[in-house]
Parts: sequence; structure tokens; C-alpha cells
Amino acid sequence: MHLDRDDEKMLHGEYGETCQKMMEILVALGKVFGADRLIPITSAQVSGASYKTIGEWGLKWLESLQAKVAVPTILNPVGMPREGWEEIGISRDFAEKQLAIIEAYRHLGVRLECTCTPYYLHMVKYGEHLAWAESSAVVYANSVIGARTNREGGPSALAAAIVGKTPNYGLHHIGNRCPSIAFTLDGGGDLTAREDVFGAIGYIAGKKAGAKIPLFTGIRPRREELKSLGAAMAATGAVSIFHVEGLTPEARIFKYESRNLETITIDKSEVDALFGEMEVDAVAIGCPHCSPDELITIARLLKGTKVKKPLFIFASREVIRTSKAAVDAIIRSGAKVIPDTCMVVSPFMEQYRSIMVDSGKALAYVPSMCGALARLGTRTECIRVATSSS
Ligand code: F3S
Repeated sequence: MHLDRDDEKMLHGEYGETCQKMMEILVALGKVFGADRLIPITSAQVSGASYKTIGEWGLKWLESLQAKVAVPTILNPVGMPREGWEEIGISRDFAEKQLAIIEAYRHLGVRLECTCTPYYLHMVKYGEHLAWAESSAVVYANSVIGARTNREGGPSALAAAIVGKTPNYGLHHIGNRCPSIAFTLDGGGDLTAREDVFGAIGYIAGKKAGAKIPLFTGIRPRREELKSLGAAMAATGAVSIFHVEGLTPEARIFKYESRNLETITIDKSEVDALFGEMEVDAVAIGCPHCSPDELITIARLLKGTKVKKPLFIFASREVIRTSKAAVDAIIRSGAKVIPDTCMVVSPFMEQYRSIMVDSGKALAYVPSMCGALARLGTRTECIRVATSSS
């Protein structure tokens, strides 16, 4: 792999030990995947931010680093909101460890907007090269925006953030972004006209696609639906990019390559089977973190009601700040709007045995990460369950 003079200096320790270690990570990764060189990135997004997932070893490693990030870098959700963590049942022991992790990232110059939806902060454009780690953000950036990022691990995203570059392989090459499997939907428009169905479609498509690159035909999801579709496929498969014919920015580039793809039809009955009935203890919405429009929808659904079961809504700090009217309305119902964390990476959700979600990704992760049963519902159903007595 070719390294320029500056890369070489960093590799030989001229910019300090942390930069040297970070360069070593990138060079090792580049060699494994056959990268020809390092390329500049415009932003990074770092995962491995919750004490629940990285533990003591991760904290110690972060505290040992002495450097600053070279590009705008954002953090994935951490294990609790930075304020008000006592109110939701986070222990002081956990909070102290989590605050130490946040402090370590602050020291590195990472922006403490702890979110899996950095694209709502206007930090990415078509064609830019990134080093993002959160799988749902990666698939959105590649597919919906047309930026280019591999699905980084926490350490490689942080290494790229500090070096300001990433190895040039995988999804940084246009030739590796070509669809390799096609999906159609049984009943097409009828199915997709239903509310909140794209998380379920993504849940099924991800299992069938595995590591292939899906092309969807005959559908026209809105932006938030594309977010749900991609997040679920990234969770149940290893999907980091997908295309929707006539909609997503790179679909037309691959028009000819797409003609002879193996095509799988997703059956309506498969989708219906995911929407089961089950008593739940709590309801959680915002996986990935809610957009401003989603907060407005939730506020409208909650209007004039009070919650009878715990209802948690997750969104980024910035989206919450700019959606004040909707957030105030949601809080008036008794629901909690929580920044910085999420239903999967925070230990406070482990106190519930059964959780209703409106997300295909959460449906996949809640059982393993929270040890709870998960029920999938539309957003309207989620609000109905949270506000009814039974
Ligand atoms: Fe985001 Fe947590 Fe879901 S990081 S995508 S809300 S599992």
C-alpha cells in the first residue's frame, strides 16, 4: 500500500505514539483488504461508546490515547442520557464509567452529539468519503446520500478520525457498489402503502441478502422509510448499501448491470407474520434516532392522551433541541424523550421483560442486547399500546 511522506512520518512515530498506533491500525486494515493507499475523509462517526458494550478495557484504551481528531467526528449513542440518568434507573457506578468514556472522547476532540443519525446534522454530501461505524448510519450514507463509507469498527473509525484518512477499499470504489440481488414485493403498492412496513421488509430482506447488495424495484419509500429499511437490513444481514430503482442516487449508474440479477419476492404473509400480538411492559421508538418529522408524528398521535405504560422516544440532542413544540407535546403525555442513548445500548431497558418497538433493527437486537421479548408494531399501534390501560 502506498503511503505519502506524511503517512510515513506518522507511522514512524513523528507525530506521537497515539497517531503512530492509529496509523498502524489503518495500514494493517488496508493490507488485509488490498487498499492501494489512504484517502482523505470528510467526517468520521465512532461506535463503541456505551460502557455496556466496551466495558473497562475499552475505557482504559480510550483514556490512554493522546491525540485530537483531524476531521469532524461524531459519537454513536452512549449508555445513558448525559443528564437525568438517575430518573430512568441508571446506577451511579455505571454512570461514572460512562461519563469517563464521554470525557475521554471529549479529550480527543470528538463532538458529543451521541447519535446514530449524524446525517440529520448536515455533515455529509453525495460522493464524500467517510469513516462511519454505526451500521444504520453507514447504510443510510451510502444508499440514500451516495456518500462512501465501509462499515468501520469502533477502533478503525477512531483511527481514521485521528489520521483524517481511511484505506481505499470496499465501498470507496464505485465498482464495489453494484447491486447483486434484486427484491420485489408481493402486492407492491398495497404492501408499501401500509404504515411503518419498511422496518419489517428490511428485517426479511437483510436475512435473504446476507452480504449482497440489494436493489429494490417497484417501491417508492420516503426518507424515513429508507432509514428503517436500511437499518433493519444492516441488522439481520450485512447490508451496507442498497439501491431503489428510480429513487436512490446511484441506482441509475447500475441500470445495465441490474438487468439479470437473481430476484427474490418478499411475500405479504412474511411481513404480516412479524407484526405479532403480545403483552408488553414498555414501548420504545427511535431506532434509528427519530427525525424532526417523526417527532411531529408522535406528538400528533399522543395529542390529548396520557401514557399508561412507559414510552421512551430516542432522538439526537440536536433534533430534540430543534423540535421543541413536538417534544413539549410528547412530554406532556408522560412519555420520555431521551437524547444520547438508545433502547439497545442503554442498560436501563433491561428492567423490562417485553418491549414493543416500531423498528426492524430493534426487533432484531432487543432480545439479545436487552434480554427482553420484542414485539413489532406500527407507530400508531405503539402509541395505542402505550396509552391504553390493558
Ligand atoms: Fe441507533 Fe441504537 Fe438503533 S444506535 S440504530 S437506536 S440500536
